[in-house]
Amino acid sequence: MKQNRVLLIVGGGVAAYKALELTRLLRKAGVAVRPILTAAGARFVTALSLSALAEDMVRTDLFSLGNEAEMGHIALSRSADLIVVAPATADLMAKAAHGLADDLASTTLLATDAPVLMAPAMNVRMWLHPATRRNAQTLQDDGVKFVGPDDGAMACGEHGPGRMAEPQAIFAAVMATLNAPAADLPLNGRHVLVTAGPTAEPIDPVRVLTNRSSGKQGYGIAAALAELGARVTLVSGPTALAAPAGVDRIAVETARQMQAACEGALPADAAVCVAAVSDWRPDAVFAGKLKKGPGGPPAIALVENPDILAGLSAAGPLRPRLVVGFAAETDDLEANAQAKLKRKGCDWIVANSVAGGAVMGGDDNEVIVFDAAGAERWPPADKAEVSRRLAERIAAALTHGDKVR
Ligand code: C5P
Repeated sequence: MKQNRVLLIVGGGVAAYKALELTRLLRKAGVAVRPILTAAGARFVTALSLSALAEDMVRTDLFSLGNEAEMGHIALSRSADLIVVAPATADLMAKAAHGLADDLASTTLLATDAPVLMAPAMNVRMWLHPATRRNAQTLQDDGVKFVGPDDGAMACGEHGPGRMAEPQAIFAAVMATLNAPAADLPLNGRHVLVTAGPTAEPIDPVRVLTNRSSGKQGYGIAAALAELGARVTLVSGPTALAAPAGVDRIAVETARQMQAACEGALPADAAVCVAAVSDWRPDAVFAGKLKKGPGGPPAIALVENPDILAGLSAAGPLRPRLVVGFAAETDDLEANAQAKLKRKGCDWIVANSVAGGAVMGGDDNEVIVFDAAGAERWPPADKAEVSRRLAERIAAALTHGDKVR
């Protein structure tokens, strides 16, 4: 079998050290790694470490006579099955989005015809800056795939999205991209909307009403659909998970934001509502932080949130052809799931028992899929396996042109 070849561009950021571990994982899996180290990257890791782990020379300079004689930069950019940028700094993303080519890394990105996978890493403000948002969108429109960034504590002391995905996650995304057949995936050309995670409904500036959903099942389904070739929009409440490779994530907090993001993402061929949407939200958000006092605890009046699944099921001409809901039930699983199928107007309900708190946040799931034809009980499996099986069922329903309803 032909050896997979990755051109690894290491940009300048604290996360560059993770590129070393990524290199090790790739080499261990038999992937050839040809590293390019930017000038800024070389301030964080040494060419010597990178070269030793990659078992190849490290290229740093666009105008290096030695490098150019051995392999010109255009040939270099075509010498790989995949270009991986890790860490992808704000600067590298901006250059690539605008077609700048003033060093070896940016020139390679402009000259290549290979697919590109970026693992962004930057300060949270830089990641959230409108310029970076625009650049990420442009790159995505140009076909660049992304893995991460994660949410969490940063080397600069701040907290939020911007941490580079862990080497294992980047490695998995690389392998998935390398192993994906170029065409003929069953969901090629389809758009699928997935909701995931909890919602967080503000009570006052510092408190929220939320639940224990980890987002694992929804993220797993988004990843599995993308692996089958779908364009996936993942509308996600707050989770600690990285966006799966090739998935377009829209981060939201409240049910109403989730609903607006879902409506904005239509049209879609299918919608899979996995999010644990808070049924209620505080009627009014207190302007200041609530304080203890002689008057006793405050009364918090709740109002019902919109039902996103029911809304998508009744979206008229914009209704996705297949709408799938989830039902987490503590008792009377079958009867409740059947009732939900009717009440929500969706096509399938994937029901799982959350009695005893086993499923929420855990890695395993045991589900029954209900549709108009009846019930299908699946054996217990981890959430990734359940995701793959569900993605395949969705692909089959869409490809066979079934009149799902
Ligand atoms: O009614 P219940 O919350 O049990 O229904 C669960 C299903 O409905 C899930 O698919 C969930 O994503 C979806 N849902 C929703 N909007 C709500 C409540 C639930 O989309 N407000």
